[in-house]
Amino acid sequence: MSPAAVTASAPAKINLHLGVGPVRDDGYHPLATVYQAIGLRDRVTVRPAADEVYVVTVAGDPRIKLDDVPLDGRNIAVRAARLLAEAAGVHQPVAIHIDKGIPVAGGLAGGSADAAATLMACAALWQIDVPTEELARLAAPLGSDVPFAVLGGTAIGTGHGEVVAPAMVRGQYWWVLVESTLGMSTPEVYREFDKLTAADPVPDPEVPDDVMEALREHDVDRLGASLHNDLELPALRLRPELDAVLSAGAEAGALAGLLSGSGPTCLFLCGGEQHARQVAGALRSRGHASVQHARGPAPGARVEEVG
Ligand code: C5P
Repeated sequence: MSPAAVTASAPAKINLHLGVGPVRDDGYHPLATVYQAIGLRDRVTVRPAADEVYVVTVAGDPRIKLDDVPLDGRNIAVRAARLLAEAAGVHQPVAIHIDKGIPVAGGLAGGSADAAATLMACAALWQIDVPTEELARLAAPLGSDVPFAVLGGTAIGTGHGEVVAPAMVRGQYWWVLVESTLGMSTPEVYREFDKLTAADPVPDPEVPDDVMEALREHDVDRLGASLHNDLELPALRLRPELDAVLSAGAEAGALAGLLSGSGPTCLFLCGGEQHARQVAGALRSRGHASVQHARGPAPGARVEEVG
């Protein structure tokens, strides 16, 4: 008998390296990125729906702004459920409830996590036996970061981000995240990148050896020195006030700081949990309201409850 409800979760992602190449004919940019999943998760519950529509409800941490999350077919979770239904030949609309622990439009791939968790939850609800790697491949049309949200851990991303290969990483890493109340549009940041690089086009991106060696050796200082994000400059042009957040992290004693993805969340590497707590505390005492710490790498999308 098929279950009455399934809950799955999926992680937020950060980019330890985000190298961006010249815009392609299809409007996407080639990427060479190092993804890491961290301990913030969205939870998605799916139930068979009585009528013929997919419906979405959303709740979450009171600090997370939910107004911009669409509740209809535009929601990426609905697109994920429809994609799997079509691929598996299933005709079973679902009601989807999203419980958000990941900030919306923060550069942490919260929407991609919802899509990944929905794929996992629907596969379990419909009793489709599909390996995780296959689910990750299937997820690519949903968005550049969705395959990684399915896999989790630490991985190298190429293509426009959707081609993921797990990376060899030793140990755990502690991060402090400073969120911003105002979300940022990813396409807008890429457009600013295009403007900045129009006169002097960038080469195709590569992942530098430094960051991979630091991860293999669990050399936190070296990782700090090799963190890089090509979208940081364009994002700072659109939101100059983020520069002060990055400086505040350095003053609070973080080993290194950078923008997360296309922003606006700022990310700070710390030496351990205790250090992360100290840095987070120092940032809060400087008036930054939305600060939390999280550990990476974290597992990818997984089923949490079958009811
Ligand atoms: O793939 P996703 O839906 O997350 O991408 C959102 C938008 O971000 C794309 O439509 C595109 O404008 C931009 N983007 C890009 N190059 C990438 C990833 C995203 O230009 N590698």
